[in-house]
Amino acid sequence: PITVKKICCIGAGYVGGPTCAVIAVKCPNIQVTIVDLNQARIDAWNSDNLPIYEPGLDEVVKSARGKNLFFSTDVDKGILEADLIFVSVNTPTKKSGIGAGFAADLKFLQLATRRIAEVATSSKIVVEKSTVPCRTADAMRTILEANSKPGCHFDILSNPEFLAEGTAIADLFKPDRVLIGSLQTEQGKDACEALKNVYANWVPKEQILTVGLWSSELSKLAANAMLAQRISSVNALSAICEATGANIDEVAYAVGKDTRVGSKFLKASVGFGGSCFQKDILNLVYLSESLHLPEVAKYWRAVVEMNEHQKERFARKVVDTLFNTITGKKIAILGWAFKKDTGDTRESPSITIANHFLTEKARITVYDPQVTQDQIWLDLTNYGDIPADPIKEHLTICQSAEEACANAEAIVVCTEWDEFKQLDWKKIYAKCPRPAFVFDGRLMLNRKELTDIGFQVITIGTGDRV
Ligand code: NAD
Ligand code: UDX
Repeated sequence: PITVKKICCIGAGYVGGPTCAVIAVKCPNIQVTIVDLNQARIDAWNSDNLPIYEPGLDEVVKSARGKNLFFSTDVDKGILEADLIFVSVNTPTKKSGIGAGFAADLKFLQLATRRIAEVATSSKIVVEKSTVPCRTADAMRTILEANSKPGCHFDILSNPEFLAEGTAIADLFKPDRVLIGSLQTEQGKDACEALKNVYANWVPKEQILTVGLWSSELSKLAANAMLAQRISSVNALSAICEATGANIDEVAYAVGKDTRVGSKFLKASVGFGGSCFQKDILNLVYLSESLHLPEVAKYWRAVVEMNEHQKERFARKVVDTLFNTITGKKIAILGWAFKKDTGDTRESPSITIANHFLTEKARITVYDPQVTQDQIWLDLTNYGDIPADPIKEHLTICQSAEEACANAEAIVVCTEWDEFKQLDWKKIYAKCPRPAFVFDGRLMLNRKELTDIGFQVITIGTGDRV
């Protein structure tokens, strides 16, 4: 059997960084080098100010960095030295060309794969960690074999990552399962065993699932599609609740008590965000269409469409409630990240909602405990595509929730940060014009307490009918 002694991870992002830092901590005998082309990102990983906010990550990185965990921009050296290479680069939705708006852009993955083939002087196990369409490993294998040096053999594994942001370290320490896909050849199975032995340093063997390559690739898309589907289903029901007097938390609780359904991922919200759900479902839609399965494509597409509808519905409700106009009115947005305990804003519902308010010419204030001002500007200007000046007049980024809420005609909670529960709502109320509205897009605030103070509280999934 192959024993892995040196690991290289290409891509020091939200997945590569935490995943391989945890491998380093749990496998002191393995040297782990995480490489990236982005110098600023690598510098941050080597500093006290890590490039991503993730509870517990600082401790993990500090305990292994400089011992058996290294961050570097020297991609070639990383490849040369490693016996096993994780490819953990970004695979965003394509913006142009064939499949634009749906298909995954595999250019970063293919560049990294090509680099491995060109640089490697010995055999390697190459692990597809990025989320990719089903059968991508085939293309990787062709690229590797067509470009490799004599005597170099590459085994390809699929090992999708299931961590969720905000709980990445806990998820990595105690994963529900680790999934490894390989070709069912002798060599494929040996490579699979080698990676399995790495994880077996801390994950119970029965939780390390080994399957075929294509099942592994598809399982990742399937898992995200099924999780997102639950949220879109509960959000669709939330609209019915608002019109009937039913309460979505009660409905979700009752439904989730059925052990066949289960209670997790049934929280109604302003809509799901994050870099994965939408991208991976669109990827699945594209895959289905390419396979001439239009009905299947339509089914999954509806999950994303329902999510768009939920965000739009919520923003519209704010306008309707404020007597059909928000022009010139001050609206506070609490939370910019796509969920609590992360600074990540990719596909955050806050962006869609803020854009809606800006189109209506409201004046908005924004507060988030982890997202930087620069990031909020990048999101609102779509990374420079939209001019910033017209937005400037209408946007103030604040240092605290209290500051954002002062004089606001409506307070709109978009991210479920714990600190929003503990705010001094009495003090905030004192500084709000009347009627003072709170829109709870996360069903997280104590409705009775706020109503007793005097707020008009509007939540997703509960209506006025009694
Ligand atoms: P990311 O954008 O945070 O990180 C990717 C990194 O790869 C970037 O720093 C980029 O500079 C680097 N990179 C790109 N091409 C490179 C190359 N040729 N050589 C060296 N470095 C290169 O992305 P992420 O959020 O970490 O996601 C990575 C993959 O993991 C994606 O396929 C994503 O779908 C998947 N995934 C993400 C999550 C998540 O929660 N973010 C969870 C599971 C799976
Ligand atoms: C997701 C998957 O959970 C993870 O397994 C995969 O590896 C990457 O994609 P992530 O996007 O980081 O992880 O966070 P997740 O906790 O899944 O939340 C995604 C979005 O759904 C967030 O905006 C969250 O607020 C929202 N959500 C989640 C709900 O609206 N309701 C829920 O019940 C759960």
